[in-house]
Amino acid sequence: MQVRIAADAPLEVRAGALVVPVFSDGKLEGVAAALDAALGGVLTDVLASKEISGKLAEMSLIHAKEHPFRRVLLVGLGDRAAFEPLVMARYAGAAVRSLGHRNVGEIAVALPLEARAHAAACASFAAEGAITAHLDTTIYQEKPEKPNVATVVTLLAEGFDAEALTRGVERGIAIGEAVNLARRLALTPGNDMTPAHMAQQAQAVGKATGISVEIHDAAWAKSQGMGSFLSVAQGSAQPPAFIVMTYRGDPSSKELLALVGKGITFDTGGISLKPPERMEEMKYDMCGGAGVIAAMQAIGTLKPKLNVVGIVPATENMPGEAATKPGDIVRASNGMTIEVINTDAEGRLVLADALCYANKLGATKIVDAATLTGACVIALGHAAGAAVSNDDAFITQFLGIAKPTGERYWQMPLYDDYTKQMKSDIADLKNTGGRPAGTLTAAAFLKAFVDKTPWVHLDIAGTAYVDNETAWQAKGPTGTPVRAFVALVETLAGTPMIHANGAATARASV
Ligand code: BES
Ligand code: MN
Ligand code: ZN
Repeated sequence: MQVRIAADAPLEVRAGALVVPVFSDGKLEGVAAALDAALGGVLTDVLASKEISGKLAEMSLIHAKEHPFRRVLLVGLGDRAAFEPLVMARYAGAAVRSLGHRNVGEIAVALPLEARAHAAACASFAAEGAITAHLDTTIYQEKPEKPNVATVVTLLAEGFDAEALTRGVERGIAIGEAVNLARRLALTPGNDMTPAHMAQQAQAVGKATGISVEIHDAAWAKSQGMGSFLSVAQGSAQPPAFIVMTYRGDPSSKELLALVGKGITFDTGGISLKPPERMEEMKYDMCGGAGVIAAMQAIGTLKPKLNVVGIVPATENMPGEAATKPGDIVRASNGMTIEVINTDAEGRLVLADALCYANKLGATKIVDAATLTGACVIALGHAAGAAVSNDDAFITQFLGIAKPTGERYWQMPLYDDYTKQMKSDIADLKNTGGRPAGTLTAAAFLKAFVDKTPWVHLDIAGTAYVDNETAWQAKGPTGTPVRAFVALVETLAGTPMIHANGAATARASV
């Protein structure tokens, strides 16, 4: 899909459809008002008849075959007072999905006047929303019915700051494509998405962006003392891969952000085997890792001034003949011993060594993302991920940055009580803490490997993939945590495009 910008004569645009916005106050402005006049008040009629009230992503299609734009799609933006740039992603996404289903290939999308004050952020979200609207799930089908995806989306932005629009669209494309990469990796089934394949995908990102990528094997992991990571890999016929992607955006700085993602390419549970019901979803147990690889792609494209390392410990969790057994004790690379009570609590085992490695590389901040616990889905459902931290200032900053991206995270506490639940009778730690607060005992376990580095842990078990589509997004993998990761990097680099309150940043990047 191409995303273009056009600043003039919106009613002359040749397209399969012209998309215009309306807030829930029903007031027509800008392109919508001009169009209404050109069409003899049709939009006013549609609104007066209450066919559409302007609620977010509500839609009404009007045919106008005498005009160069052929059709008009009126799309609701919701409450005017609640407008934020993120609304543009939902607006553009809903339009692209709806018109795709109607076989319209070229569309023009009018930005509302409200967007002028935040041109860059609004253009970014509109591009991201258009690019991520569809998800091609047909790649494995013999005679695929491909979704009709618009080939050209032109943003109509008369009177907007052209430089800001261009910068915004570039960012939106980079994020949208990264989100789609993460989703594509997630959809790939476990027989194809092996640790080696995941590593190849990281290498391809490196090649395309200039990021340096190292793939380490089991022998290397052993030499690093990564007994915790290797204890998960040893039950599988597929060799593990420890993926390290390094982007040096600010070589003179000592600051280093580590993005760490759980890369379990399939989670059977190991010897503590999972029940069969919905086990196929465990191909998605690499979504944290996919998010890291994809975020690194966007970072390598956008080139913010910050050093970032992406770390993905990739392995299957299988009950092979050499598999770790419940009660086995393993040693992580910081020297701590872990009693493996349940081999299905494997994510924390691979993350333990990855977090140690982030520290070894000199990370000054760490964020990890993992489909870590079923308990997180029980606590928050599919509405939000859990965020847990050892540093109040850092998590407050992170939550402020993530919110306007549309990815939801809800902070949960990390009391010492949870650390106590993880004490083993025989080793330094055990890998499960019983049923109470399963998300937080998992986080307390990870904390032991992070030490003092400011760290945020994201449990994305409920948000990495969803069962239901929305008007603006397909069901399936969501691309979480790519958007939050990229926004975090931009902010730490000193060049955020969106503010914590959702508005554009001051003049510099309006
Ligand atoms: N990958 C799972 C967590 C998960 C469950 C993600 C459902 C998405 C949907 C993880 O490895 C796991 O199995 N966790 C166990 C931990 C338990 C054994 C302490 C769980 O949540 O049941
Ligand atoms: Mn598991
Ligand atoms: Zn898992």
